[in-house]
Amino acid sequence: MASFLPQHLPDIPLPDPTSTSSLRTIHDFFLSSFYTQEKCTQLLDSYVRPTRNWGKGWDGNSFCNHQEKHVVEWNRTPFQVLTALFLFGEELSEDICASVLSPSIFELLVSHKFLKRKYVSCYSSHQIFPVTVGSRTALILTDWPFLDESLPSQFAVMPVGYDSLELTVISEVNVSSSNAGECSSICDMCCGSGIQGIHYLLQLVSRNQNLSSVKCKFVDYNPRALSLCEFNVAFNGLSSASCSFVKSDCWSDVDASADSKFDVILCNPPFVAIPESEEERLHYYADGGVDGNNAIKEIFKEVLPRLKPLTGVMLMVTELPNVSTSTSQVRRFLASEEGKIKIAYVKEDVETIEEYSAVRNDEMGFKTDAKKYAKGINKSEDIGVIIDRALVLIRVENVNSDDDEGLFEFSSGQDEDVEYEFGADEPDAFIGDAGRSFLAEVMK
Ligand SMILES: C[S@@+](CC[C@H](N)C(=O)[O-])C[C@H]1O[C@@H](n2cnc3c(N)ncnc32)[C@H](O)[C@@H]1O
Repeated sequence: MASFLPQHLPDIPLPDPTSTSSLRTIHDFFLSSFYTQEKCTQLLDSYVRPTRNWGKGWDGNSFCNHQEKHVVEWNRTPFQVLTALFLFGEELSEDICASVLSPSIFELLVSHKFLKRKYVSCYSSHQIFPVTVGSRTALILTDWPFLDESLPSQFAVMPVGYDSLELTVISEVNVSSSNAGECSSICDMCCGSGIQGIHYLLQLVSRNQNLSSVKCKFVDYNPRALSLCEFNVAFNGLSSASCSFVKSDCWSDVDASADSKFDVILCNPPFVAIPESEEERLHYYADGGVDGNNAIKEIFKEVLPRLKPLTGVMLMVTELPNVSTSTSQVRRFLASEEGKIKIAYVKEDVETIEEYSAVRNDEMGFKTDAKKYAKGINKSEDIGVIIDRALVLIRVENVNSDDDEGLFEFSSGQDEDVEYEFGADEPDAFIGDAGRSFLAEVMK
């Protein structure tokens, strides 16, 4: 399982996926403690957002991006202890952990490296984000945004972010649409922790599809991501699907033979626009080059030949510059008149280059000032002058159709002038009920 990790990487403790029955016991314990997406999201919403007291420097794109030292007296139930350790990144005393979780579960968590001992306390090197589909919950292990000192930062695996969750929403829309057929071949391109492919497999399980007929290919450039992803597949009992883990720069090392075409390609590429002058490049998971489009272009170039004809679909969450021209950008990236493109975005999320630069510059802790940042990302060789950027959801069907493009704007009705304090994310519109209904209407 450590086969993807290059020799020069320091020894990073990853939980050992080989002991299936212990992993099942740990997984069951989390679920019997109500560690579900609904409960954890409620907790984060009710606790973190109002306090706005997150680890400075790490507001990022995720409501999991925080390290919160919260009230000790709160650690009374297994749910509270598990969330303190694995959702908030707290260090707790061994005594509390062993007495609340039970000595045997505590020992299992330590021996399988979910927990590290430190004097008389313990902490987790990974966050665990629950993703629930129907009655099944997958537990996704990924890195904290604050890193183990031994880990070179570009190898950090992305925490589950709002973008990750938006892609899961559109993938649910896809699976529940009336014309979704049997799915036997999935590609999670830029898989990171594997959340997208794992979530898709869970959806197939909830539709009673037998996974033994399903192949899922997880692709990433970061070897550590592939190791964590492989672990997550095993931890969530999804090894009955035929999963493979491919280290590849976009499509370069992914088998392109005719019998390797996909029903579904899921993709959340690195898309942050970063000026060339910025010497400290970001993690693999964020850096999209000056216009944010570096990886996106490479991926679209080969999407149509990689999808099954007529039925294959690609679903992507990304940012695009100049959102009003986004369908023509994607058409150009596809380099084909074939393929039906649909794009949805939230009106209130469109940021001018100046707004975007101010936020990103702050978030990333760059030394550049925001004006310089804006100047560094306001032009692109392909697009020319860039005036705005927005997060978009993209659906490309491998069909030929007269009605071949659609750009759909959703208004969340949120007040654009509300100032969110440093460290707080605004609620995400496509994850809420109204946003979901909108997507179900226009992106099926
Ligand atoms: C935005 S993260 C998405 C992670 C995960 N799919 C999710 O939704 O949370 C982008 C991922 O793409 C990977 N990546 C970056 N450049 C890549 C490339 N050229 N080819 C393949 N993967 C790449 C990063 O390592 C990272 O895991």
